[in-house]
Amino acid sequence: MSTIKILDRNFNVYLTEEQIHQAILLISQNMNIDLADKDPLFICILNGAFMFAADLFKEIDFPCQVTFIKLASYDGTNSSGKINQLVGLKENIAGRNIVLVEDIIDTGLTIKYLLDELSLKRPSSIKVATLLLKREALKIDIEPDYIGFKVSNTFLVGYGLDYDGYGRNLRHIYSEAE
Ligand code: IMP
Ligand code: MG
Repeated sequence: MSTIKILDRNFNVYLTEEQIHQAILLISQNMNIDLADKDPLFICILNGAFMFAADLFKEIDFPCQVTFIKLASYDGTNSSGKINQLVGLKENIAGRNIVLVEDIIDTGLTIKYLLDELSLKRPSSIKVATLLLKREALKIDIEPDYIGFKVSNTFLVGYGLDYDGYGRNLRHIYSEAE
């Protein structure tokens, strides 16, 4: 079925499972060249990147480690904005080659926060792999090292991406219907 309804909103297929698979193969081919002798630590950013990360890691053909982090965001008592906190990283990343694995970069503020936090821990390098990049929504200057698709500035669900917690399980990526 190409149109679906999640809660109150309608979505159409935007990227099929097959298109996603092909993009992941391209990314992994580049990683298999670039990172083969780097003993990288892949860091999957939960929740959204879980499905992309799982499919990507299966295509990696060199020794690597995989871990998972999460951003907890809460309302600060003394400030109006949300405060982010990096949780779940147990590994010592000093001197390591890090690859951050993200589902989607929208404003870029999340990935910027993570790059700043992780840099404090003195890794050798940090690369960014994102399945989706909403280039028009970017508020910061960032050039991810691996990009699956540059997408239009519309709301997407499926393949890890959620609408109010729903839709993460879908095998295709959907965009909101006009
Ligand atoms: P950023 O900080 O604005 O770059 O937002 C990144 C995060 O916002 C992603 O990790 C997603 O969790 C979420 N996000 C951004 N755009 C979408 C979307 O179209 N659908 C679902 N989640 C999104
Ligand atoms: Mg995310």
